[in-house]
Formats: sequence, structure tokens, C-alpha cells
Amino acid sequence: MKKTSAALFICTVILTALALTAAFAKNMGADQIVINGGSSGKVPFPHHLHQQVIEDCMVCHKDFSQQAGSLDAAKKSGDLKSKQVMNKTCLKCHRSMKKAKQKTGPTSCKQCHKK
Ligand code: HEC
Ligand code: HEC
Ligand code: HEC
Repeated sequence: MKKTSAALFICTVILTALALTAAFAKNMGADQIVINGGSSGKVPFPHHLHQQVIEDCMVCHKDFSQQAGSLDAAKKSGDLKSKQVMNKTCLKCHRSMKKAKQKTGPTSCKQCHKK
């Protein structure tokens, strides 16, 4: 009896430790990312700030994987249209939050695109 509960206890401790390691080992990517904005100029993007305010990674990563260069690759392969992420993800959210008078990100070209 005693031996089984001790073994169970040890198993639980090990499993909890493994789960915690997995959670902390999650690759959050870079804090600051410069997105390729084509002819309008590059788009400096505060990645971790968005992870904090949005929480659900899939709001953006449903369209491109969690890998450097994946956005451009998806546009190149035709999986994503040019400006699709800009209009349907970035601007859509910023505009609707602005309308709701909440603190949000830029909605004008020059506030996002820097030459
Ligand atoms: C508001 C949009 C957005 C959200 C939300 C978001 N990401 Fe990203 N993420 C991006 C963009 C843009 C890139 C750059 C892709 C590229 O380089 O083509 C990126 C790249 C990455 C990368 C690879 C690049 C690097 O820096 O190593 C990882 C890993 C990543 N994200 C993880 C996450 C995780 C984990 C979450 C959720 C906790 C998350 N992201 C939420 C937009 C977002
Ligand atoms: C909220 C930030 C943001 C705003 C505001 C914004 N853009 Fe963008 N733009 C992006 C991002 C991110 C990309 C790259 C992803 C994509 O193509 O969807 C991009 C891509 C582009 C591209 C390149 C498309 C390509 O595939 O070569 C052009 C051109 C562009 N934007 C023009 C504009 C113009 C013009 C405005 C103003 C009417 C504007 N953008 C406003 C973020 C923004
Ligand atoms: C679901 C909502 C949402 C999406 C999607 C989103 N943003 Fe934002 N963004 C925010 C909010 C909220 C803030 C304000 C955060 C703060 O300052 O507390 C913000 C702020 C910003 C800022 C200003 C940061 C600063 O330091 O003032 C930039 C630039 C920006 N976003 C670019 C982007 C780009 C580029 C994309 C698309 C790849 C994007 N955002 C997608 C909600 C969003």
C-alpha cells in the first residue's frame, strides 16, 4: 500500500515538472519584429506586446506559422494575398477597437509603414 502511494506521488511530481517545463519552453518568438511592408516601407511590430493584449496566438498565426519568414513565404506561395494580413488582421482589429474607443494600434499608413 505505502509503496504504491509513494510511487504515485513521485509520478505526479515528475508529470507536473514535465508539464511546467513544456509550458515555459514554448517559443514566444522575438519581442520586436520588422515585417516586410513592400513598397510602402517596413513595418516595425511589437510582437510580445500583442501576445500580452491578445493572448490567442491563432488570431495571427492561423494565417502563417510561428516561424521567421513565414508571412512572406505564405504570400509568395499564394496561400496569403498581398495585404491580406494587414487588412484582415492588423487593421481590422485596430479599427474596431478605435471605434469602441479602446486603446489600440495605428490605423494610418505612415504610422505603421516606416521608410
Ligand atoms: C498580432 C499578431 C500576432 C500574434 C497575436 C502572435 N504573433 Fe507570433 N508572429 C507574428 C508575426 C507578424 C511574425 C513574423 C512572421 C514572419 O517573420 O514572417 C511572428 C513570428 C513568430 C515566431 C517566429 C519568429 C521569431 O521571432 O522567432 C514565433 C515563434 C511566434 N511568432 C510565436 C508566437 C506565439 C507563441 C504567440 C502567442 C502567445 C504569437 N506568436 C502571437 C504575429 C503575431
Ligand atoms: C496596422 C499597420 C498597418 C497599416 C495602418 C497599414 N499597413 Fe500596409 N502592411 C502592414 C503589414 C503588416 C503588411 C505585410 C502583410 C501583408 O501584406 O498583409 C503590409 C503590407 C503592405 C504593402 C505590401 C504588399 C505586398 O505584398 O507587397 C503595401 C503596398 C501596403 N501595406 C500599403 C499600405 C497603405 C497604402 C496603407 C494606408 C492606406 C497601409 N499599408 C496601412 C501593416 C499596415
Ligand atoms: C486583435 C487585435 C489586434 C491585432 C490583430 C493587431 N493589433 Fe496591433 N495593437 C493592438 C492593441 C490593443 C494595441 C495597443 C497596445 C497597448 O499599447 O497597450 C496595438 C498596438 C500596435 C502598435 C503600436 C505599438 C506602440 O508601441 O504604440 C503597432 C505598431 C501595431 N499594433 C501593429 C500591428 C500590426 C502590424 C498588426 C498585424 C500584424 C497588429 N498590430 C495586429 C491590437 C491588435
